[in-house]
Amino acid sequence: MKVISIVGARPQLVKLAAVAAAFAGTGHEHLIVHTGQHYDADLSDVFFSGLGIPDPDVHLGVGSGSHGAQTGSVLTALDPVLEREQPDWVLVYGDTNSTIAGALSAVKQHLPVAHLEAGLRSFNRRMPEEHNRVLTDHCADLLLAPTEEAMRHLADEGLKDRAVLAGDVMVDICLRIRDAVRAGEHPRPELPEGIDPDQPFLLATLHRPDNTDDPARLAALVRSLASLPLPVALLAHPRLVARAAEHAIPLTQGSLHVGRPLPYAGLVAAVLASQGVVTDSGGLQKEAFLLERICTTVRPETEWVETVRTGWNTLVADPQLLPADAWAATVTRPVPTTDPGTPYGDGRAARNAVRIMEEWMTNG
Ligand code: UD1
Repeated sequence: MKVISIVGARPQLVKLAAVAAAFAGTGHEHLIVHTGQHYDADLSDVFFSGLGIPDPDVHLGVGSGSHGAQTGSVLTALDPVLEREQPDWVLVYGDTNSTIAGALSAVKQHLPVAHLEAGLRSFNRRMPEEHNRVLTDHCADLLLAPTEEAMRHLADEGLKDRAVLAGDVMVDICLRIRDAVRAGEHPRPELPEGIDPDQPFLLATLHRPDNTDDPARLAALVRSLASLPLPVALLAHPRLVARAAEHAIPLTQGSLHVGRPLPYAGLVAAVLASQGVVTDSGGLQKEAFLLERICTTVRPETEWVETVRTGWNTLVADPQLLPADAWAATVTRPVPTTDPGTPYGDGRAARNAVRIMEEWMTNG
């Protein structure tokens, strides 16, 4: 079996680490195409080196741009690669512009597409990711769903016959790295200046366009984080840094200490060292859940509803609508006492995905 993984953005590289490890030693041919959507070392290279992912076989080097330009550039650059390679599966990951471009290039060449992390829905059509994931699901041939909830969404949209529950590959990698961090196999993370990892602190990220691109909203969110009663390590995505600079919003204020995005092991270590997480990232909501830290998600909704149902994650659409002490109390609330269960699988999702692709190739 010949499979081409199409990746481009940071969260896809984490998932790729699990998939590449599952392919290793199987005898299948697994090629990696990096679209170049993320190109900063902090968002790309450190994941390859840190997670032991083989170097990409092809790098398309598309870089940043408007949604249309970025998606179109991936399509243009990818077409000849897929035409030349003729894989048995084109495997696309998650919901970025690289995902939809990879799926479109493949289906237009009649190449089978498998979508990893299929079936997630926020039902928020303002999110670019919601379009990417819905469109990708509807054009893919095999839908590898991470959760029962995702399976239900796919069934509701008439896609049940193409859907298989594989589990969430992020669990595979998160638990592996957690164990390595606990075993002392990684150096301590480089936290922002002023954060003492041995004293209580909170970990925060913000990068969604809905939170960063409106200056009034961004300024209010930064003020809310700055008002928290514990030091806050803000791991700043380039989009956040750029928008804050553009609108002269100081990121270093009050409780806030700003640093760069961390490599994956550093991020896992930072979550484990923290008292809790405040974020708008999908991946980090789940990582907090898996690492048993409370999470407060600054969004009106989440695709990862299981984290909320079990009490480990709370949604706060607009912190400024809460009195300051209620906001602080939410972010620093005690951990729930209920058993979180294993809604995202048991850490074998990537091997499941490889097996399902094998079965669907022969029987499918
Ligand atoms: C993308 C994904 C999002 C994912 C996120 C993870 C889409 C639509 N969005 O959002 O789902 O959660 O990745 O980080 O695909 N930039 C750099 N260096 C880089 C990459 C980007 O400075 O290496 C800056 C550029 O100014 C760029 C901006 O960040 O315009 C946004 O990058 P982009 O890849 O378009 O989207 P993300 O916000 O990273």
